[in-house]
Amino acid sequence: MKVIILAGGSGTRLWPLSRTNYPKQFLKLKGMDKSIFQTSFKRCLKITDSNQIFIVTNKEYRFLALGQIEELGYKFNEKNILIEPSGKNTLPAIYYAVKEIQKNGDDISVVFPSDHLIEDEKAFVETILSGVNFANDYIITYGIKPSKPHTGYGYIKPQSAIGQGYRVDKFKEKPNLETAESYINKGYFWNSGMFMFRTDIFTEEVKRYCPEVFMSFQENDIEKTYEITPNISIDYGIMEQSQRVAVVPMNVKWTDLGSFDAFYDQFAKDENNNVVFDGDILIDSTNNLLYTDKDKAVAIVGVNDLIIVDEKDALLICKKDQSQKVKEVVDKLKKLK
Ligand code: GDD
Ligand code: MG
Repeated sequence: MKVIILAGGSGTRLWPLSRTNYPKQFLKLKGMDKSIFQTSFKRCLKITDSNQIFIVTNKEYRFLALGQIEELGYKFNEKNILIEPSGKNTLPAIYYAVKEIQKNGDDISVVFPSDHLIEDEKAFVETILSGVNFANDYIITYGIKPSKPHTGYGYIKPQSAIGQGYRVDKFKEKPNLETAESYINKGYFWNSGMFMFRTDIFTEEVKRYCPEVFMSFQENDIEKTYEITPNISIDYGIMEQSQRVAVVPMNVKWTDLGSFDAFYDQFAKDENNNVVFDGDILIDSTNNLLYTDKDKAVAIVGVNDLIIVDEKDALLICKKDQSQKVKEVVDKLKKLK
């Protein structure tokens, strides 16, 4: 079995913690001794051997990835780090790895993002591996029971039961709030962003539903491939279209550390529901997240529902529940440069 780790995203919704040259998956956040990439890598070793793992990333993050694996005490086969000339989203990234894997024959592969926190690793590994039972017929998704109508996730509608999973009736990526609410009432799952498939089945689906991606990888030169391949995620490109999708429910504590709201949910709160590191002073303030420089005295008074992230060269103040919009800040900053 092969594992594909996606580690090329720049995590713009976690700006200013996450920066283009040092994105969230490689950060060692306060309260955590390893980066999310490091914990993801270690988790993958419970699924397969190190030489069966493929990491897809870009030139800038190559050394971060290799350095952080080395720091864990492992030596990684550099040939298994695939460098994309540019970010074209998850479908080209996954298909790049699939093509590499196929050089040595088809195999079952599991795709993992590198921006997730997962507790209960034993149950996690068991659930992932149970997908093998369906891999001869389906692309397998892993479904999380939703806790709120989050608009940053894909939604999966289960149909008839097959073993400990279900055939998928419908997959909808990032619906609007109203639709997400109706999906929750109808018993949809969240898409965890992890997938299992046989590389030959996946290739058939890429050819059928995203022929431009398929064709671009017929080129022998990866630079040329990435010049012409479209920018598209696996969710829009394959999962929304394919008729061969199954879902296996995943009952583990799972967080996509994609935004500051998820970040807030993850950490312990004080008696007023604030998440605070490094001794900031809070008076009459509730439900805030403060992530500030430990050498700076920071105080807030009479302030509720705010995210405050203070870095040396950047300060973010954002209303809680609007943190999905932080990526617009990064878009604006890029235009200013
Ligand atoms: N190599 C590479 N190249 N990796 C990428 C690229 C790219 O161009 N773009 C994103 N990634 C990596 C990110 O670093 C992350 O680990 C993973 O692919 C998923 O990308 P995100 O950008 O974080 O996707 P998302 O969170 O908005 O949505 C996906 O995950 C959700 C669950 O976390 C979708 O699959 C949703 O349906 C799903 O609910
Ligand atoms: Mg994500």
